[in-house]
Amino acid sequence: MEERDKKHKKILVTGGAGFIGSHLCERLLDLGNDVICADNLYSGSRENIEKFFKNPHFEFIEHDINKPLKIDALDEIYNLACPASPVSYQFDPVFTVKTNVLGSLNMLELAKKTGARILQASTSEIYGDPLSHPQKETDFGNVNTVGVRSCYDEGKRCVETLFMDYHRERGVDIRIIRIFNTYGPNMALDDGRVISNFIIQALKNEDITIYGNGSQTRSFQYADDLIDAMILMMQHKDFIGPVNIGNPKEMTVKQLAERIVALTGSSSKIVYLPQAQDDPKKRNPDITLAHEKLGWQPRVDFEEGIIKTINYFAEKLEIKTNVLVFATAYKPFLGPAEETLHSIIEQMGHLNFHVITARLDKNLPKKEETGNITIYRIGVGYSIDKYLLIFFGWMKAKKLHKIHNFRFVWSLMASYAALAALIFKIFGKKLPHVMFLHKGDLEGKALRKAKLIFPFYKLIFKKSDAIHVIDDAMKNKLKLIDKDLEGELMPLEKSLAASKVREVHKKIIGKYNKKIERTK
Ligand SMILES: NC(=O)c1ccc[n+]([C@@H]2O[C@H](COP(=O)([O-])OP(=O)(O)OC[C@H]3O[C@@H](n4cnc5c(N)ncnc54)[C@H](O)[C@@H]3O)[C@@H](O)[C@H]2O)c1
Repeated sequence: MEERDKKHKKILVTGGAGFIGSHLCERLLDLGNDVICADNLYSGSRENIEKFFKNPHFEFIEHDINKPLKIDALDEIYNLACPASPVSYQFDPVFTVKTNVLGSLNMLELAKKTGARILQASTSEIYGDPLSHPQKETDFGNVNTVGVRSCYDEGKRCVETLFMDYHRERGVDIRIIRIFNTYGPNMALDDGRVISNFIIQALKNEDITIYGNGSQTRSFQYADDLIDAMILMMQHKDFIGPVNIGNPKEMTVKQLAERIVALTGSSSKIVYLPQAQDDPKKRNPDITLAHEKLGWQPRVDFEEGIIKTINYFAEKLEIKTNVLVFATAYKPFLGPAEETLHSIIEQMGHLNFHVITARLDKNLPKKEETGNITIYRIGVGYSIDKYLLIFFGWMKAKKLHKIHNFRFVWSLMASYAALAALIFKIFGKKLPHVMFLHKGDLEGKALRKAKLIFPFYKLIFKKSDAIHVIDDAMKNKLKLIDKDLEGELMPLEKSLAASKVREVHKKIIGKYNKKIERTK
């Protein structure tokens, strides 16, 4: 048989159907390896790995690692199998200890037999409620041996001991990493971890529950950063660890809740419940060793990672908020205001945008769907469509509202589309309305026209709950129409613009919710 190209290895991932395991399988496959995923689906799911089933280099074995696993040849083993969230590891604590101790023993034996290098996914929990801050690999930890979290914490401590003894006594090639809080797509919806809890509560506009006063700190690393480190560690020729892998950017749990509320545009309130048992007050990795030995440090910014995670949860929960947009012209006729809207839509994947626009070209389809945007084109395909939009756009919006139950309405520029939006708002659908303006909209001809139909414009602006302007000059032009008009300046940078929109929407939705509460 041809000798195997060692760039392409045969790798076993235990717990590969879990959150981190599924990201690891994906990366290992992308690197051209043969991957065997062994998982008993205790807390992981088939859904996480379904997309690899067609790949001939992927094999799934439904297997409990508490029983020995027979595989003849292996180059590497990543040992991730273990219930990892408090909800799942406390559900059957004896199983948790068993998986840690007996399961890991089985995997160490397999490594010994096959000569494979084996990496243990250990945890920051081995530090318990830490006595030093940030936590260094040399800290021995402050762990309760008899508490409800001990099955996990002590179980993981024992695995580290087993790994070291198999290495010293039996010559097994080991690696140990201590993973700090990690988040990202593929996290289980019901795992009760702080990130998933907060995102789900925020997306559902339910109270965000903080255990304790929220001053306890955590640091969160995005899954991609962890996978980078795992692979670097496995490839390192002689550094066995243990090594901390986490993101040292620390935040309080309260700050985390506030960020998630802001990023989801949620109307959730933050509420405080009694602190959970043995909940560490501080958690922050010292990653100097990882940096020195592996040249690794996290690269994914919190906002970038959390937006991807929010989008994943919104998709899973199928509770995408629907936003109605009125635009006189839209794709393929993209002006600066439409371009800005477009970049905001890209950043707000947890929202579905329904854009009602004039058709203006008879070759364009009446309905078009791409990603999280659906475009509805009104009219016959000529410039008369702009006028038709006012009435037929409004009718279309009424119909769509029955199906999609919009949370707010945007209109691009103060024109025919804005009139349709205004009528939609005035006649029955009391939804928050946001105007989006670019300078071209109130310049030259447009300004002269605006002056002619001043009362209309005044009404459109007055009825809007917020006005976003794309440049400063527009702020002053608004005053020409009405001296009391204020426009929120829209930052040009994509993610900043999206944050601004979320902030404004949050305020507006809060205001509307209050109105609804008051009328009860
Ligand atoms: N996510 C984090 O923040 C974090 C932090 C520190 C350490 N870790 C460690 O990383 C690993 C993966 O964690 P995760 O967050 O992906 O959790 P997860 O629960 O999503 O994944 C664990 C996987 O192991 C499987 N499993 C459990 N017991 C098993 C058994 N006896 N036999 C076979 N499969 C079994 C589960 O079905 C699941 O697919 C765990 O070992 C965990 O302790 C995770």
